[in-house]
Amino acid sequence: MCGIVGYIGNRDGADIVLAGLKALEYRGYDSAGIALLDKKGTAHLFKQVGRVDGVEKLLLADDPGDAPAAIGHTRWATHGGPSVLNAHPHANSDESIFVVHNGIIENYAELKEWLIKEGAQFVSDTDTEVMAHLIDHYYKQSKSFEEAFTKALKEVRGAYAIVAMTTHEPGKLFAARLSSPMVIGVGKDECIVASDPSAILQHTKKVIYVQDNEMVIVEAGKCTITDLMHDKKVLRETETLDFDINQADLGDYPHFMLKEIYEAPQTIRLASLGRVNADTNTVKLGGLESVTTQLSHVDRIVIVACGTSYYAGLVGEYLLEEIAGIPVEVQLASEFKYRDEPFCRSTALLAISQSGETADTIAALKKVEDYGVLRLGIVNAVGSTIARMTDAGVYCHAGPEQAVASTKAFIAQVMVLTQIALNLAKEGHALYKPMLAEIEALPAKAEAVLKQADTIKAIAEKYKNYRDFLFIGRRYAYPVALEGALKLKEVSYIHAEGYAAGEMKHGPLAMIDENFPTFALAGDGPLLEKTISNMQEIRARKGKIVAVTTEGTKAVAQHADDAIYIPATLEQTEPILQAIVMQLFSYYVATAKGYNVDRPRNLAKSVTVE
Ligand code: F6R
Repeated sequence: MCGIVGYIGNRDGADIVLAGLKALEYRGYDSAGIALLDKKGTAHLFKQVGRVDGVEKLLLADDPGDAPAAIGHTRWATHGGPSVLNAHPHANSDESIFVVHNGIIENYAELKEWLIKEGAQFVSDTDTEVMAHLIDHYYKQSKSFEEAFTKALKEVRGAYAIVAMTTHEPGKLFAARLSSPMVIGVGKDECIVASDPSAILQHTKKVIYVQDNEMVIVEAGKCTITDLMHDKKVLRETETLDFDINQADLGDYPHFMLKEIYEAPQTIRLASLGRVNADTNTVKLGGLESVTTQLSHVDRIVIVACGTSYYAGLVGEYLLEEIAGIPVEVQLASEFKYRDEPFCRSTALLAISQSGETADTIAALKKVEDYGVLRLGIVNAVGSTIARMTDAGVYCHAGPEQAVASTKAFIAQVMVLTQIALNLAKEGHALYKPMLAEIEALPAKAEAVLKQADTIKAIAEKYKNYRDFLFIGRRYAYPVALEGALKLKEVSYIHAEGYAAGEMKHGPLAMIDENFPTFALAGDGPLLEKTISNMQEIRARKGKIVAVTTEGTKAVAQHADDAIYIPATLEQTEPILQAIVMQLFSYYVATAKGYNVDRPRNLAKSVTVE
């Protein structure tokens, strides 16, 4: 989704902003731009539909010299299609004020109408351009940029991370946020403002996280923060980013998606490191210790999440109900926000998010802000908005996930949910000990699944030209089927649906014929025979089947056209191994079709608009 980078200091801001924008490319975008002020304070603007490289070429051709101040943006179209005019930065009419913005200004139409009457000339279809003209309007009245920026912020409704730069005060950037992430890297004699720490960390690990309703005047090596709600200055120490830059490299892999799938064994280890100990028979979750008493009064958990994180939540529902005995409901965050439902204080809300910045999930947490309920998080991105707005939580420790399609984050989320379920389990639960032992054995089993990559690749080649695909599973395998279908459709653009295997005969079976294959998750669990019956129903209608089953299980292959074997594990830990198969299958189908698997069309990595 949209990305922001701004620089102020004594190096060339254009270089730093362009490098920062490239570091944000993984989030997905359709156009890019940069505005800079050269050493004389003269403004230059370069915008382009397509990649940041294109903007760099425009800049090199123009050669404006070093720029001590610059702001740049990668845009993922919301208001108005991808075009040079709609790309950010946006400017006021005389190009003395430049603005980059993530989020949505909800009242932009009425503001635009009013500003046009006041004489402003708009050139784009965007909501953001309103901000440049609005600041200009107030600047003309007061000749104070800080005052104009603040007044403009108070007029707009919606969500924003916004950075403004002006020829009136070339030594400063003006930044603000509301419900959209913003972080400032503070270096020696320079500052870098960004929507994501990955744009900063090659320069400094000292950062300040901007909070909602704060306005920041950013100067070389210095930030002045104002709390706009209470009109007072805020003193905030820098924090140190906990981020390994090497993790953001592709290494020898052709794509981030493949690299991240291959990180599964390490992801499992990191998610349980220092937490699970089979020798002492303990699961220790430091992030939940501060709320132990509150947790003991919780009699229901509502999980809110989107996309892949939502499917991890569905696996969590099975785990928490079976192992911890707590009733769980999993809701799509985008629906939860607009739903009227009774909510007791003994219910805890658990938000799951890789990025920690998903607008719908943030909105779900905000909805219950005044309910007095415990708000928990399972988040991967350390220091992200969701990590900071929850009362307590458990980090996934999966490291940065660069491919748009989530893979290792799902593995880590399910691992963390497993540990929460065990942590909340009643003493002596029959599954407690076997599961601790199985968690320790899982990395090696994940390695064994990865060794089947060639088999999975050959199967992907065979099935890549089908237009539709069904994924089925029962119990723990059902959410994995949903996730498998999501993975396939988002990277290969093949229509795919996930279904509970037992639900097939209630409708979807009607679609099955020789052109509609099924991926059947048929592990050697208590419901295997029933799943096999469902497979037979499909085969009786000429449907082709790829089955994922347990090593040594002979019963499945005879009912399938192709079979992939995974090591035996508990039914409760099987989603992790099945997910790796699904991820590899989607990856190989998409790459066989020649698609950009790391940046699927129309999608963005972190969805910061509702
Ligand atoms: C799918 C995918 C998305 C995300 C969803 C939630 O592969 O990546 O469906 O899972 O946008 O994102 P987070 O987990 O960052 O809240």
